Amino acid sequence: ALPRSVEALIGRMTVEEKAGQLQIMAAAWAGGAANALNPIAPKASFDEQLEQVRAMQLTGVFNGNGAEMAQRMQRAAMEEARLPIPLIFAADVIHGFRTVFPVPLGETASFEPDLARRTARAAAEEAAAAGIDWTFAPMVDIARDARWGRGVEGSGEDVYLGKLMAAARVHGFQGKALTDDDAVLSCAKHFAAYGAAESGLDYNTVDISERTLREVYLPPFKAAFDAGSLSTMAAFNEISGVPATANPWLMQEVLRSEWGFDGFVVSDYTGDEELIAHGFAQDARDATRLAFMAGVDMSMQSGFYREHLPDLVRSGEVPMERLDESVRRVLAVKAKLGLFDDPFRRISPAREKQRILTPEKRKLAREAGRRSIVMLKNEGDLLPLPRSGRNIAIIGPFAEGQHDLIGPWNVYGSDAQAVDLATGIRAAVADPKLVTTALGSGVEEAIDGGIEQALATARTADIVLLAVGEATNMSGEAQARAAITLPKPQMRLVEAVAKLGKPMVVILKNGRAMELEAPLLDAQAILVTWFLGTESGPATADILFGVEGPSARLPVSFPYATGQEPYYYSHKSTGRPNPEGPLQPYKAHFRGIPNEARFPFGHGLTYGKVEYSDLNLPARMAWDGALEITATLRNTGSRPCEEVAQLYIHDMAASITRPVRELKGFQKVALRPGEAKQVKFRLTRDQLTFIGIDERLTVEPGSFRLWIAPSAQADGVSGSFELVQG
Ligand code: IFM
Repeated sequence: ALPRSVEALIGRMTVEEKAGQLQIMAAAWAGGAANALNPIAPKASFDEQLEQVRAMQLTGVFNGNGAEMAQRMQRAAMEEARLPIPLIFAADVIHGFRTVFPVPLGETASFEPDLARRTARAAAEEAAAAGIDWTFAPMVDIARDARWGRGVEGSGEDVYLGKLMAAARVHGFQGKALTDDDAVLSCAKHFAAYGAAESGLDYNTVDISERTLREVYLPPFKAAFDAGSLSTMAAFNEISGVPATANPWLMQEVLRSEWGFDGFVVSDYTGDEELIAHGFAQDARDATRLAFMAGVDMSMQSGFYREHLPDLVRSGEVPMERLDESVRRVLAVKAKLGLFDDPFRRISPAREKQRILTPEKRKLAREAGRRSIVMLKNEGDLLPLPRSGRNIAIIGPFAEGQHDLIGPWNVYGSDAQAVDLATGIRAAVADPKLVTTALGSGVEEAIDGGIEQALATARTADIVLLAVGEATNMSGEAQARAAITLPKPQMRLVEAVAKLGKPMVVILKNGRAMELEAPLLDAQAILVTWFLGTESGPATADILFGVEGPSARLPVSFPYATGQEPYYYSHKSTGRPNPEGPLQPYKAHFRGIPNEARFPFGHGLTYGKVEYSDLNLPARMAWDGALEITATLRNTGSRPCEEVAQLYIHDMAASITRPVRELKGFQKVALRPGEAKQVKFRLTRDQLTFIGIDERLTVEPGSFRLWIAPSAQADGVSGSFELVQG
């Protein structure tokens, strides 16, 4: 229930003021951080925006610039407006604020939800001091098509992992209590199925069954709401003919009736306006009515709600009770954030300076960076490298320089404050003079004479580190790629360098799963380093020189070819699956490539060598019982490691066909050389459920196969069990 004083305010508000409570706009202050990021500039100057605050035509602003701005605007709201209703300050704090952590996809590779919680906590501490109450994060969209650019902001292809990461990030942002001065309200986005865009083209049509929606795309949202997220953002896409922004089924039936969500829904940037381009609304007024009546409580950036809601209420097309309901929802969240008690609680120019980029936060960024790096390959144990006695050439567009370090969708961080690869490596080796660099190529364009210069540098080296991959602007919003390969100029560089026959380590920078081709693929070692943030270089050096071993796993499958996309490990079987071995005619396959992933979900090597044995799997699970499953992991290698043991199941036959494998649990286990440890998992009937023919959660007795394995494609140890009824 709303505090009585707040409820009383609603009674005193005019229709225009109520509509204003449902309108958020990009901040105009000092050009606004939003300006740099969004091509569509804010629609007002700062003075005009202050006027709108005084006239109660704004509920808040987003992507503004710091405590001073927030202070001035909040003062106008509390002291100069007709009724004192605090503004809410929002921002895209996706993977860090001033201290930047790995992109969410990279961080998910850690398979450590608690790490995601800690980095979200640190980001919230920094952001809140700058006056930010609300972050447009986490992005919890499952992404199964690597062509889609925004997969970089989420947790990859898997539902189970996606749920854990969604909940962890919400806990991190929101902290212990929403009223705390370092708590930031989270916003699970984009509701829903934004990641299922046809052909991975951003904003594209989604045509999807209710079952897939409920089984794959919705669960991470539910997990975020169960963790306490009190806001969600409507997705840009349509879902089977009805745009998510005007979808009553999604926002009323599922979100409110089934799940009991009592936060508020915000549109995406001009999402309501876009109903016209979708061909769903006739004009601005119609778009406002459709979005609002479907359940979008707050409009972002179009200005439509404050412009058209008053008239829609007067004409009776929008009932006053419906308007009050949304206003109440927004004010209730403002109250939960403590804004009515102290509207300035998060706005602190002093704290703003103290809390940013502290040594502790940089340390956390380095830890998170290290733990996000996935080693795909390490032939002949080339890695870790010795710290002395080797000439090292770092070749490629990402060898050095203050660019492409923090990665996409970061409004407040700066590459200038991040540490690049060469600096990280020079700080790690005994003699920095033995480290040389050459760009060799631009990211997407060749450099005149670049290859010759790179070859000259590489010739003098004992080992070549190839710093290649995607630039920041090649993933993120509106950055779909039709081919997820290394750009051609970089490929030519790699080909030339590979001919020297030097030991090569690929240090891949990427915002998505990629198709890796020879000779890139033939390098002795490959590290997937995503965009690691402020401590990119040192974190990579830590892994290269064995300060810590790689322990991360792919949260997305790397296919053999782009043409396999959308590719995900938990696909269905088809009636004609291709058995292992040579391809057979009239079986499901692409000509010339295997059906599987080149590097599957869950894959990642360590500096140890882990063997799986001694699966102990009871043969039967009683209906209300549980299975206690154990297996042994033994590090037969000569270095310590951390292994991610993954538990997968396959429901052999069901009334709805089931994926070939589904992740149901994992554990990260530290193993010294020669050490063996038992991993224990507990499985219950709840984990065997699926969405049945009636679109409801169901579970059926029968046989299940089970694996405890190092990846979605590895055998590990496996067996089967029966779920028995009665
Ligand atoms: O939060 C974002 C969203 O993810 C994409 N459109 C713009 C919003 C606000 O910046």
